[in-house]
Amino acid sequence: MDIESIFENNKKWIANKLNDNPDYFKTLAKDQSPEILFIGCSDSRVTTGDLMGIEPGDMFVHRNIANMVSNTDLSVMSVINYAVNQLKVKHVIICGHYNCGGVKAAMQAKDMGILNPWLRNIRDVYRLHKEELNSIKDEEQKYNRLVELNVQEQCVNLIKTAEVQKALIDRHITIHGWVFDIHTGHIIDMKIDFNKILKDIMEIYRLV
Ligand code: CO
Repeated sequence: MDIESIFENNKKWIANKLNDNPDYFKTLAKDQSPEILFIGCSDSRVTTGDLMGIEPGDMFVHRNIANMVSNTDLSVMSVINYAVNQLKVKHVIICGHYNCGGVKAAMQAKDMGILNPWLRNIRDVYRLHKEELNSIKDEEQKYNRLVELNVQEQCVNLIKTAEVQKALIDRHITIHGWVFDIHTGHIIDMKIDFNKILKDIMEIYRLV
């Protein structure tokens, strides 16, 4: 990719937007009131807005390796706090994807330096679901299932936060666990039962 061409593309994009709506940037600059918080993987193939037809202003986005909601990660925790408490988003989406390099790397016997503690969280997901995962003989299917279970566990981690617990109880926000199927382009809704998760974890994780 030629960096110069990015500026050319940018000019074309501006011209297209202004052609459709001369006030486009005036409106865009005013404020943001996105209804969605999206937490996805940093993978270059997961082009968040494009694959959903989402326009600037529609979605607050956080991306990291393997779409993790780690409770010691100030970045993701600040994003969740701001999106839920200030922007008052109505939906939170955690979106993983098949062929996730982060998930694959987590299962290798290899010292990866600073990535070790990050990827350790994925090994913890494996440990929680060891029986199911070990019963899958096909390696690719096993990784795919780990991608799905990782999304599920990150939804649980999301619901362990005070902001989300409060928003689930007070204003009924919804939590969505998705997997982007990189082979077909489809988004798969895992139909996470977030109310059941909330009920199940409150005995130990209740903060509000
Ligand atoms: Co990934």
